[in-house]
Amino acid sequence: MTKLAIIGAMEEEIIPLLLKFTDVKENNFASNTYYECKLGNLDVVIAYSKIGKVFSTLTATTMIEKFGCDTLLFSGVAGGINPDLKIGDLIIANKLTQHDLDITAFGHPHGYVPGGGVFVHTDEKLKNVALEVANENNIKLIEGIIATGDQFVANEQRKNFILNTFNADALEMEGASVAVVCDALNVPCLILRAISDTADMDAGFNFDEFLEDSAKKSADFLIKVVNKLNK
Ligand code: ADE
Repeated sequence: MTKLAIIGAMEEEIIPLLLKFTDVKENNFASNTYYECKLGNLDVVIAYSKIGKVFSTLTATTMIEKFGCDTLLFSGVAGGINPDLKIGDLIIANKLTQHDLDITAFGHPHGYVPGGGVFVHTDEKLKNVALEVANENNIKLIEGIIATGDQFVANEQRKNFILNTFNADALEMEGASVAVVCDALNVPCLILRAISDTADMDAGFNFDEFLEDSAKKSADFLIKVVNKLNK
């Protein structure tokens, strides 16, 4: 690893990360701000993409193709589906899917388009480093399936569809698009999320209440992973 990309979707998701760095240089590109900083000898670029699959695709691609990042970590919040995931708990994706990608009219499964796959996998080594960090620090971290779509899910019906169709443990709005970019460009990636709500009718209210806290939990854990990678 020579240059590390760290992405969140929202400002709240990267502020706790930026606070860990001194000497941050701002670089504006493609209607966004990229924060360049250093951790020891390691170059780090941090940005929030804005919400959704399109903006996160743009940011991940920019991090890799323009800034030359060769490892990508995503930190943020998610809606929990797996009942073992309570608000504030952490999940790391072993694979991700786009739950709103739908050409089922042509006989294809949900999440599939020709040339792609229903699921995209994340990097095994990075995932194992995260699991080690959790173990060493006695932090609960669930490994599972994350479903991504351009929808804030706040109803049981959609949540159950995503559970039953993909066996997903959590859902959010950027992870799969970032993982698809990394997979295509051969850049190892890790997608980490802390639960802010459980994608039910209270999700909007809970999201507003727990966004900051859960974003910080994810960021604090991610920094532990970065420190371990940088040893
Ligand atoms: N991110 C956090 N909670 C979410 C939800 N309920 N739906 C989509 N993305 C989310």
